[in-house]
Amino acid sequence: MILTEDELTAWGFRLGSEAEVPLFLGLRGQLGAGKSVLARAIARGAGVEGTLPSPTFNLLFRYPGRDGVEVVHMDLYRLREPSELWELGWEELGQGPEIVLVEWPERAGPLLPEDRWDIHLSVPEPGSSLRAVQVHRVGVPPHLPGFPVTLERG
Ligand SMILES: Nc1ncnc2c1ncn2[C@@H]1O[C@H](COP(=O)(O)OP(=O)(O)O)[C@@H](O)[C@H]1O
Ligand SMILES: [Mg+2]
Repeated sequence: MILTEDELTAWGFRLGSEAEVPLFLGLRGQLGAGKSVLARAIARGAGVEGTLPSPTFNLLFRYPGRDGVEVVHMDLYRLREPSELWELGWEELGQGPEIVLVEWPERAGPLLPEDRWDIHLSVPEPGSSLRAVQVHRVGVPPHLPGFPVTLERG
């Protein structure tokens, strides 16, 4: 699936508003692929208000959303080794009513949860304003709202 930024954002918003929790999403792709754009759209859809800074240095931000749902946004780019995750409360993640969004999930190696969705974003050609989106189910995660994406063009 190839999406414009508006389409990716619309899907993320729907995903965030309809997700069954807990839901764990790994957001893969190079710098600039759109992982944070998608994460913010999902958070907005879940009812998160206010600014959503990149968790580049903090590694983890937690936001209250609608109906008791919490959005956890992580960026593991600067994680040096998976064991650092324990300090972030990794063990408890995804046990409550959370949408857990993890950029650079590969940094967590074998500590990733068994049941999750991995979403891979890539730039189809240099400078393009489109993004290729590949979705992989790992284990038995809850349903992923809005996928396959239905495009509404007016
Ligand atoms: N189709 C698209 N989907 C998402 N982002 C896009 C798209 N086209 C262009 N962009 C731009 O690409 C950049 C993606 O940045 P960001 O989400 O921070 O990347 P990442 O978190 O993967 O490093 C943003 O500046 C965004 O405006
Ligand atoms: Mg990012």
